[in-house]
Amino acid sequence: MKKLSGNKKTKTAVFISGAGSNLKNLIKFSKFKKSPITIDLVISNNKNAKGLKYASKNKIKKKNFSFRNTNIGEKKSLEILLKKKIRLICLAGFMKVLSKNFIKKFRGKIINIHPSLLPKFKGLNTHKRALKNKENFSGCTVHYVNSNLDSGKIILQKRIKIKKNDTAYSLQKRILKEEHKIYPKAISKILN
Ligand code: GRF
Repeated sequence: MKKLSGNKKTKTAVFISGAGSNLKNLIKFSKFKKSPITIDLVISNNKNAKGLKYASKNKIKKKNFSFRNTNIGEKKSLEILLKKKIRLICLAGFMKVLSKNFIKKFRGKIINIHPSLLPKFKGLNTHKRALKNKENFSGCTVHYVNSNLDSGKIILQKRIKIKKNDTAYSLQKRILKEEHKIYPKAISKILN
């Protein structure tokens, strides 16, 4: 994906549903001089999402839309995304599946972070499933979003070794740390 013009940074929205540690990390990244993005909007489908506080703290416009009706949530999101001239959408723990129609409108401009080595373990409870499957490795993946869940083209992946005494919790903690490293790298990769 090319930057729109010259040295201008890419206006980015982050979609969240929960803790927002990836959002926090992307905000930090966006403040580096060499970062290719600015974060101009945070959208949540959950008004209690803890991550919303990072938007407030950093004076980033935030919106909470119920996606119980996906159509309505997407329509409201689309309005503000266009108004704010957003060119990149980063899903970061966003627990709703976006419709084909919405994805088409932002074709090639929506990316997601997923806590497994895709194409393994699409969907939920990835760490539990990796352990149950007696995998030797797990990790995280940044990928483009297409209309099939967790199936778009892979941008970057980080693999870590699963330890003998790992639990879903310990694995999640270790992988989250790696997520925070690869999400900014993946963004730089597609925008530079
Ligand atoms: C991360 O593990 C991400 O990969 C997954 O949901 C979690 C969100 O964590 N999609 P946070 O809200 O960014 O802390």
